[in-house]
Amino acid sequence: MAGQIPPQFIDDLLTRVDIVDVVDARVPLKKAGKNLQACCPFHNEKTPSFTVSPDKQFYHCFGCGAHGTAIGFLMEYDQMSFPESIQELADLVGMTVPTTSFAAAQPSKQNLYDLMDKVSQYYVHQLQNHPQKTAFVNYLEQRGLSAQIIEHFNIGMAPDGWDNILKTFGANEQTRKQLDEVGLLSSNDKGRQYDRFRNRIMFPIRDRRGRVVGFGGRVLDDSTPKYLNSPETPLFHKGNELYGLFQARKANRKLERIIIVEGYMDVIALAEHGITNSVATLGTATTPDHLRQLLRSSPELVFCFDGDRAGREAAWRAAENAMPLLGGNHQLKFMFLPDGEDPDSVVRQQGADQFNALVDQAQNYSDFFLATLEAQVDTSSMDGQSRLIAIAEPYLRKIPEGVYRDMLEQRLTEKANMSAAMLHKYLGKPAETNAKIRKKTLKSSTAISPVRMAITILLQHPELHAGIGAFDKLTTLERPGLTILVQMLETLSKNPHLTTAMLLERARGEQHEGHLRQLAQQSLTLSADKLQHELIGIVQQLQQQAVEQRHAYLVAKGLSNLTAEERVEINSLNS
Ligand code: UTP
Ligand code: MN
Repeated sequence: MAGQIPPQFIDDLLTRVDIVDVVDARVPLKKAGKNLQACCPFHNEKTPSFTVSPDKQFYHCFGCGAHGTAIGFLMEYDQMSFPESIQELADLVGMTVPTTSFAAAQPSKQNLYDLMDKVSQYYVHQLQNHPQKTAFVNYLEQRGLSAQIIEHFNIGMAPDGWDNILKTFGANEQTRKQLDEVGLLSSNDKGRQYDRFRNRIMFPIRDRRGRVVGFGGRVLDDSTPKYLNSPETPLFHKGNELYGLFQARKANRKLERIIIVEGYMDVIALAEHGITNSVATLGTATTPDHLRQLLRSSPELVFCFDGDRAGREAAWRAAENAMPLLGGNHQLKFMFLPDGEDPDSVVRQQGADQFNALVDQAQNYSDFFLATLEAQVDTSSMDGQSRLIAIAEPYLRKIPEGVYRDMLEQRLTEKANMSAAMLHKYLGKPAETNAKIRKKTLKSSTAISPVRMAITILLQHPELHAGIGAFDKLTTLERPGLTILVQMLETLSKNPHLTTAMLLERARGEQHEGHLRQLAQQSLTLSADKLQHELIGIVQQLQQQAVEQRHAYLVAKGLSNLTAEERVEINSLNS
């Protein structure tokens, strides 16, 4: 949490870091007036609407609404945690993150990552040098893998034996604890520890940044389990990781499309045949987390499943998880392979062209959605038609209101032989269109209160606080957002040189964080002079209202009932 790192340190850090450098190193920027621009890395677009402001030290995309500070950018773009982003920026400008509260509360995971990396290298080394390597090498060869692809995916082998890893890496109590923490050990009932992975082909699982966070290990024969995976550890959450995403991003400057497959060997076999844009979930359904990561990486996702029942069910689960994310600028598609086949077998038997042709024929999301629902009813009967609407209803509600949902509803009403008005009645909605509803909510939220206006101006132009007079009485007033305004005024009078980014980082983790981030990107069209005038006017007016209200309160209390302090106060208010 933000509270564990002193705000002063974050201010200092943001003074030294330039968001332009941070972004430009990852997304090359072009000058556009006093700002810089690029095509947004968070959604797919052809004309740049992603803007970085050197003044505010803030980025904002007018297309998709993504926004934040340098810290926020690393969290989004590099998928770092908050402390990791701080560390990364501190490294960049040669600052040391204060160790007291921070490091103690957030023990560095670096040594765990280092350990995983060394273990991965060990497995690779074994595949090249171990006396029993032949069976493993032959197995990989028989599955059609070249030396290059084995190296590209850092495939290795865990030799037979209970304590190869334990002996090599667990020299003392501390390192054994670390081995256990990263999931490389198992233990029996008596608490005796031994290597988790034995006699298996080893596939290191890398996170988006390329760090080894887990392993999958496959047996060479028919014994079970066929694949053994790392358990959940501080480094590895299988619902977050996608096998092959790091390699896919590395192999493709821009990922126009990502194919999501089911197995390690599918990703590797496709890459062997030059199809370098596939990733695999790790024996789980595609989670909403996966989907968000994937949509950030590519505008088109093609889910590839086995055509059998289990495959169709898995596809539907993925489709369901994607519902809240539908309607953006991206495309989701589904493809089904013949029963019993997987991408590995198809690409090996029929080649890359044939596989690509199948990908090109993938079904649109809406077609898959409607076909799946339709398959459950008989749409030629009236009963079936109404049932179609009934089963679609809970899903439709999960899809954000907008053109996409309107379109799905439209197609659904056609299939159910029903009018849009009837459907809306059924869904319990007023008869007005979604577009109208959206317009309304937008309108009511744009009427901006003076307090909100003052916060917005201060947030975007913190230097304008300089001309503000007294604001000491403001706290006695009751206005939504007033405490935030007062807090901001106090902060700025103590720290006059804060930037937008610093103010935002101070709010990280606070209840009003989201609110402030919204206000930071409202467009203020007035000149700085006029804004300052406005700001001073608002604060003066609020102060005046506070004085009057307080005065009225004291008068109403009656002079004889006032405490000595209150008498002094009423005199000062009168003057
Ligand atoms: P599959 O059994 O379809 O794997 O499981 P595969 O990739 O086709 O295996 P090969 O071709 O026989 O080598 C798909 C995925 O499900 C997980 C793994 O992530 C695997 O890649 N799985 C499967 C397990 O975790 N454990 C298992 O025992 C089996
Ligand atoms: Mn397979």
